[in-house]
Amino acid sequence: MPIDPNRVLIFDTTLRDGEQSPGATMSHDEKLEIAGLLDAMGVDIIEAGFPVASEGDFTAVSEIAKTAQNAVICGLGRANFKDISRCWEAVKHARRPRIHTFIGTSPQHRAIPNLTMDQMADRIHETVSHARNLCEDVQWSPMDATRTEWEYLCRVVKIAIRAGATTINIPDTVGYTAPVESADLIRRLIAQVPGADAVTFSTHCHNDLGMATANALAAVAGGARQIECTINGLGERAGNTALEEVVMAMQVRNDIMPYRTGIDATKIMHISRRVATVSGFNVQPNKAIVGKNAFAHASGIHQDGMLKSADTFEIMHPRDVGLSETSIVMGKHSGRAALRSKLKDLGFEPGDNQLNDLFVRYKALADRKKEVFDDDLIALVTDASADGAGHLEVKFLRVICGTEAPQSADITLRVGTHDHQATAQGDGPVNAAFNAVRALYPHDARLQLYHVNAVTEGMDAQATVTVRIQEGGQIATGQAADTDTVVASVKAYVNALNRLSVRRERGGSDMPEFTYKEAG
Ligand code: KIV
Ligand code: ZN
Repeated sequence: MPIDPNRVLIFDTTLRDGEQSPGATMSHDEKLEIAGLLDAMGVDIIEAGFPVASEGDFTAVSEIAKTAQNAVICGLGRANFKDISRCWEAVKHARRPRIHTFIGTSPQHRAIPNLTMDQMADRIHETVSHARNLCEDVQWSPMDATRTEWEYLCRVVKIAIRAGATTINIPDTVGYTAPVESADLIRRLIAQVPGADAVTFSTHCHNDLGMATANALAAVAGGARQIECTINGLGERAGNTALEEVVMAMQVRNDIMPYRTGIDATKIMHISRRVATVSGFNVQPNKAIVGKNAFAHASGIHQDGMLKSADTFEIMHPRDVGLSETSIVMGKHSGRAALRSKLKDLGFEPGDNQLNDLFVRYKALADRKKEVFDDDLIALVTDASADGAGHLEVKFLRVICGTEAPQSADITLRVGTHDHQATAQGDGPVNAAFNAVRALYPHDARLQLYHVNAVTEGMDAQATVTVRIQEGGQIATGQAADTDTVVASVKAYVNALNRLSVRRERGGSDMPEFTYKEAG
């Protein structure tokens, strides 16, 4: 339990529950980067992954464990000795390791491992004891707690506490509960389960009915002192409680929610953008706190907004979440130093070589665009980090379009160290260009998602394109930005192919789809 009774621990599961979202798979380096940002923003516990799921997951969790400076590093394992031991192997190097183990306790979930209530109770005792023999900090979750019979829930929570669990997490796995019930459930568990006052109660909500943030905050009112959440609310189906929402709700309405977190909220915007980029899950424009329109009225500040009182429409300041107010940046004559400083404001600190590369791209962009906005620069950085990340690179592209199909595309693609050229036709310029890529780099990957987003306003706006492809059990997402939508599309496609080949080489998940099924 934290010493301050109003201190709420923030447990981030972007890298586990968030990454579990189909298509949100992140690369090893991306996971390390996001973990570093979470650690720096003051997240108390980072759930870094599910170590038994694959070699890649194991390595990512253990490297995050070795490098985290402050946060507790947690790994997830099902209720069996193999998962738990593997989890311990991955987190044991952390300054502050945690094992999180779970089992589905509701009637719907008990049917899966085919255990009776008594058998499951025994399993919980054995597995939590095993985890506790390995690690001092053990979290236990009765998955689908909100649909578990009250008597049985009390019984299993008591067993887990007796076996040594230090945190009891109450998941609303299917997003079924509502605020009044969420608060009441935690309050009653704390009041009625023997030993409950000696552990931390945690809440883990899914957003299927759009109540994940409200349910998490209600659970805190009921006595929970840990919130499990993800950046941008990333997560399976409708997602998880969004970190930025609960943190800002407690900050802005501290008068009625007098709780404190350790989060530096000014880092929210940057991490939100990075998670959106690496996961390929764009943030909806009207998303609370981090959506493009969340502070849209602030864009008018230059003209007349300043004349009025800012609190007419603002309950928080854009600066509070790290949003820079300048929307127009630099002219085409601005130098490297200005670019470096502007990128720093936006939360990016490129090394010298990366800055040189970005500067060349910036100049090219500034030549093509009348005004370069903050979002253009963010897209530029994102695009640069996507490029050169693999052995395929687009060197040249020309498409011939017209009202008459088929359209055709000429492409030069660098494959490894050699340039290859092909011409292909298709139904539309994007399809023609993708066919040309396929001709030069044959593959079986199927397109799952193709999304175009105009980054800034105007006819000369940059387009950010997201492409998600699937081959066998592997999913990869690529993103790229350009003032030319077809160029951005092809680069995003190639970026996704690069990621897919890296994933293939690394050997992806042994468990193609995360399953809650018991391994026994
Ligand atoms: O939603 C859920 O129940 C989970 C558990 C593994 C905690 O993610
Ligand atoms: Zn979950």
